[in-house]
Parts: sequence; C-alpha cells; structure tokens
Amino acid sequence: MPKPTIEWIGGPDGFARIIDQTLLPAEYKRVDIRTPQEMFEAIGSLRVRGAPAIGIAGACGVVLAGGCGDFPSEEALFAGLRKAGAYLGSSRPTAVNLAWAVERVLTAAQRAAGQGPAAVRKALLDEALAIYEEDRAVCRQIGEAGQEIIADGDTVLTHCNAGALATADYGTALAVIYRAGELGKTVRVYADETRPLLQGARLTAWELMDEGVDVTLVCDDMAATLMQSGKIDLVITGADRIAANGDTANKIGTLGLAVVAKEFSVPFYIAAPISTFDLDIPNGRAIPIEERPSQEVTEGFGRRTAPEGVKVFNPAFDVTPAGYITAIVTERGLIRNPDAASIADIAG
Ligand code: MRU
Repeated sequence: MPKPTIEWIGGPDGFARIIDQTLLPAEYKRVDIRTPQEMFEAIGSLRVRGAPAIGIAGACGVVLAGGCGDFPSEEALFAGLRKAGAYLGSSRPTAVNLAWAVERVLTAAQRAAGQGPAAVRKALLDEALAIYEEDRAVCRQIGEAGQEIIADGDTVLTHCNAGALATADYGTALAVIYRAGELGKTVRVYADETRPLLQGARLTAWELMDEGVDVTLVCDDMAATLMQSGKIDLVITGADRIAANGDTANKIGTLGLAVVAKEFSVPFYIAAPISTFDLDIPNGRAIPIEERPSQEVTEGFGRRTAPEGVKVFNPAFDVTPAGYITAIVTERGLIRNPDAASIADIAG
C-alpha cells in the first residue's frame, strides 16, 4: 500500500506505467504509455482516472511529448510542448488538476529556456516527478487533517473512488479512512457502486477490501435509505474542481448524497488537495461538466440494458453548492462552512 496507480520509468526518454483501471477488479494489469496520444486515450477512457492522478498523467504526457517529436530547435520543442499540453488538457474538462499540472510542467520547462532541448526535457520530468511527490505528501496530510471529523466506531458513506487508485498515495476521501485505521480507530465504510462506470464497486470496494477495511457495497439508490435509518455517521467524497465560493464538482450522484445528508442531519465532507481549487471561477455554474458517451448507460460493460435508440443524458459530474458542505478537508486543514472568505483564507 499504496499501489502506484501511475509511475514514471527511466529518465526524460522514459515512459509512464499505469494500472489499467478499466479492467479492475477482474484483472490487475499495468500498461506502459509511451506517447502523448496513448496518454490522451488512457485519460479519456478512464484507464487512469481521479483528479490528482490525471494531473500527474497529463504532466507525464507532456514529458512524453518532449521525447516523441523531431524538434530541430528549442523554439520548435516549446511549440510542440505547448501543443501537446493543450491536447492533453482537453482529454477531460472537469478536474482542474489536469490543466494545473500541465501548466506547471510547461512553466518549469520555460525556466530552462536557452539551456538546450536536453535541459528543457529534464526540467519537464523533474517537475512531473515533483508533482507526484507533492501529491504523496498531500494525501498523508489530508488523512491527518481529516482525523478531526472521524471517530472510533464511525460508519462512513463514500461515492466513486477517491483513494489510492486516484492519487499518488492513499487518496483524499479514503486517506481519512486509511489514516483512521492506522491510528487504531475502527471505521466501517459503505461504498456507493457509482453508476454508470461503477468506480465505487470496481475500485473503491476492491482497494478497501485489499487493505482489510470493513466495506459494504450498495447501489447508489440505497444511500438515502442508509442515511434515513441512521446508519451513516458522515459522508466523505473527493472533488474534481472547487470554485472560489466552495461549490464543488465531483462524480455524478454526489449532489444527491449531499441533499439527502442535509435532510437527515448527516455531516457531508469533501476531501481534496489545494490543487483542486479553481479560484479563477466564482461559483459552480462556471465549472465545465464532461458529458460521456451514451453507451456507458445503455450498454455498460458490454451488455445492452436499454432499448436501441433511447435518448440518454450522461454527465460525468455534478456540482454540490457550498451550502451543503459541512467542511472541506485539505492538506492545510479543514475549511468549515466553506464560502469565498474561508476558502480565500486557506487556498488563496
Ligand atoms: O470520472 P472519474 O472516475 O475520474 O471521477 C473521479 C471522481 O469524481 C473523484 O471523486 C475525484 O476525482 C477525486 S479523486 C481523489
């Protein structure tokens, strides 16, 4: 623990290795990614997924771009890198970590301008590895900060996967649970299966079981009943983008959980790194929401479960207004009752 969901093998001429999350839990397979095109495909098809992990993947994709083209000059290299950055950044629109990490490696490369292509490519890789290492530390800090909200004996409901598979270490939402376990707290987890791509069933249940955490899988439509019956002490999910006022985009279905949690007085927490905040946008209405292919709903995992030709609406994320969020757990501590002022204080 944790499983390296993504890693870089070798120097600037190396490649990325990822766990192909589309195959889990039936098959644990690691695949090598050697071109920006392969990385674009891996991010878009959710072989690698989760906001921090796709940030690292995007950064690695730019490093790959530096090694793939035939660049006659440093200027040509920079032009190629910028093009690759825009291309990789467009692979998924909602998680701000992707654009953030791509921008970071491009800026680092710019600092090496004038030192020749080899130095530029080394600067790219160093920055991608720094992002990776920082994320590892951040997961641990979020886990620690989250101990304020979780007590021995608690039962947690979570949605999608915000664990080791989604980050460089042991996650954000799941970091709070893993850290509680390390400290000897007994914590039980209910994992929503998370339609349509089943990240909760395929990934969260898999990684929690692998770590010996007591996890029970439920269909998404069972979460309200659990909260109504008093079985849930707190809800914790991850996030893909948090606006300046605290409105939070996360996996589709998160909003419904937050509304139900409020109704039944269950505290609702988001756990996310500072890199997930987008202070350039004032509120959730400005967050771009990815829409995914209809087949994910009508014939997910190869079996048709809806009539041919039916109209489908398949947004991958929703936005929970800040007012539903009890606190956001970050590596810098808790932001309670998040709003523009409290967020500017900690994330600004
Ligand atoms: O579509 P996905 O699987 O990439 O969605 C992931 C989520 O919504 C996670 O909760 C979020 O990225 C946080 S991961 C630490």
